[in-house]
Amino acid sequence: MTTQEKEAAEPASKVDLPQEQGGGGEIPTFEVTLRVRRYDPEVSAEPRWDEWQLTMFGTDRVLDALHKVKWEIDGSLSFRRSCAHGICGSDAMRINGRNRLACKTLLKDLDLSKPVIVEAIKGLPCEKDLIVDMEPFFQSYREIMPFLMNDGHEPKRERYQSVEDRERFDDTTKCILCAACTSSCPVFWTDGQYFGPAAIVNAHRFIFDSRDDAGDLRLEILNDKEGVWRCRTTFNCTDACPRGIQVTKAIAEVKQAVLARAF
Ligand code: SF4
Ligand code: FES
Repeated sequence: MTTQEKEAAEPASKVDLPQEQGGGGEIPTFEVTLRVRRYDPEVSAEPRWDEWQLTMFGTDRVLDALHKVKWEIDGSLSFRRSCAHGICGSDAMRINGRNRLACKTLLKDLDLSKPVIVEAIKGLPCEKDLIVDMEPFFQSYREIMPFLMNDGHEPKRERYQSVEDRERFDDTTKCILCAACTSSCPVFWTDGQYFGPAAIVNAHRFIFDSRDDAGDLRLEILNDKEGVWRCRTTFNCTDACPRGIQVTKAIAEVKQAVLARAF
């Protein structure tokens, strides 16, 4: 076998661990069937399914399998990713029917006796393969004004905040805008008009920030007919969130705040 052939046969991310970290031997490999829902409007108006048999390592994630296909088998396979470490939020997709980040989903944690099924997230227009148009999602995000607004004088030093006040919205600061929650919401699937969980989570992050003065304004926006009252508390969003944010709880807290202010 030539060097090039040998490289092509290598799994996507072979890792040689040092002896003290349990290395010293080969990391086990296994066979994976990857089935991806493909869509390319320049080729066909109908989506299709493609399937590949791959040899992958025990340390590989779904993102590594997608890379292996793209780099070694079919360069036309399209998906978004950037950080590959669960930070940028760009690779949310449906994996075996559940919204997850491809870079945080280890292949060994899936049932490999069946094909691993990968599709684009639902509720947003598919542009190509696993890439959706995120604009409706970011439009809702922009509408809740996700930035600090304060009418007071510019302070000469940082705005102080107690530990307790900071804790009030700590959970919702963790959002990475991956859209896994919003695109798992059956209400959002129906017409896409609903603000969606992610926009409400990011409104929560400022509504409960003691340094911000625009909470009432945001609550008024979310009291809209497409706002918090469309939430049916299905908990899909909380289950989907790769950051472990209590999304449904945050929505409930925003609902309570709307009622407390009684617009
Ligand atoms: S709340 Fe969680 S699932 Fe929703 S966009 Fe933020 S990080 Fe993603
Ligand atoms: S590639 Fe950045 S979160 Fe997965």
